[in-house]
Parts: sequence; structure tokens; C-alpha cells
Amino acid sequence: MTRRLVVLASGTGSNLQAIIDACTDGALPAEVAAVVSDRADALALRRAHLACIPAVHVGRRDGESRADYDARLAEVVTGFDPHWVVLAGWMRVLTMNFLGWFPGMVVNLHPALPGELPGVHAIERAWNEAQAGHRTGTGVMVHLVSDEGVDDGPVLATAAVPILADDTVDTLAERVHHTEHRVLVDTLRTLCTDPHHFTHGALA
Ligand code: GRF
Repeated sequence: MTRRLVVLASGTGSNLQAIIDACTDGALPAEVAAVVSDRADALALRRAHLACIPAVHVGRRDGESRADYDARLAEVVTGFDPHWVVLAGWMRVLTMNFLGWFPGMVVNLHPALPGELPGVHAIERAWNEAQAGHRTGTGVMVHLVSDEGVDDGPVLATAAVPILADDTVDTLAERVHHTEHRVLVDTLRTLCTDPHHFTHGALA
């Protein structure tokens, strides 16, 4: 059965594009039921439009609390009846007012390995640490979001990315993003076709 994905994205949407392309060429037996963004100008919404996927902007209203925003967001996402909610460059920490609606169904992507460099600018921070001689590699991870912890939760997949001596932030970022596209699509494929694969690990 084709699984329905709702993708939440705040920015460029290159990972969203990797998902859309994989759905289109059959590599991922799923459909993107909707793309939701907190930013009206997100390129991710434009990518959704171009792919004829419903693209919804849910902006935070003046004075609106995080909890109220998240409840409103949950209502929109629920309307698309997802099997999986995918955070692909979603730049807001979600409260239980959202997560409580989708137990074990929210998947996040982060450009660092588990327990390392949570929060924004993880690639730049990894590169800076390498320049200072404190690390020689970084990576990516896909994990479930079960609570309000930042870039933290049961891990579904990881991949290491070495930091090369002649890397600039840009060349490192390019390799990290390339790795993210592959690992995210591979993980979603497993979640859509064989979720029990994770039964003894993250989904136990
Ligand atoms: C990715 O590096 C993702 O891990 C992080 O934000 C970036 C989004 O990139 N959370 P894009 O919008 O998918 O191009």
C-alpha cells in the first residue's frame, strides 16, 4: 500500500526534492500528500507547487504561543492523513501539542551523528571544530521525534561523513547534503515497506 508522507520544511527543500524524485521514479513506494512550511517564502513550497503537491503555509500569528501554533499545525497535518510526518529542514522545535497527535510517526533529519552538534549550523560547527583539530569527521542521522528534545530521539539510521583536509564549509556541506538525501530516502523506504525492520531498535 502506498504510504502517505507529509513533509514539514522551512527552507530550501533539497531533501524534500530527493523524496519527491524517489516517489516519482518508484524508488520510494510513497506519495507526498502535502508539504507544510512555517515560512511563506520557503523554496520547499515552490518545489511542492511544481510537483503538483498541496503546499500549505502555516505561519505563526502575532502573539500566538508555541503550543497554540503547534495545535493549529497538527490540525492541518492531520487533514492529510499521513502515515509518516517527515521533518526535512523544519526549523522549529515541536511541542507535545503537535507530537502527541503523531506518536511514533514523526521522523527528523539532522546533519550530525547522534548526540553530536544538536541545533542549528551543525555542519559549520563541525567544520570549525575540524579546523581547530578537534574532529576529523561528522555525519548525518535520521531519528524519531518522541518529545521536545532537540535533534534527539530513537535513531533509525546514521552515516559518517569524513572532513577532508582541504574541505571548505561549502564542500563539506555539499557532501553532507548528498549523504542526507540518500540516507533519508533509504530510511523512508524501509519505514514504508518494512517498519518491523526497526522493531528491535528504535521502534521497539
Ligand atoms: C538539512 O541539512 C537538514 O538536516 C537540516 O536542515 C537542512 C535542510 O536542507 N535540518 P534542505 O532544506 O532539505 O535543503
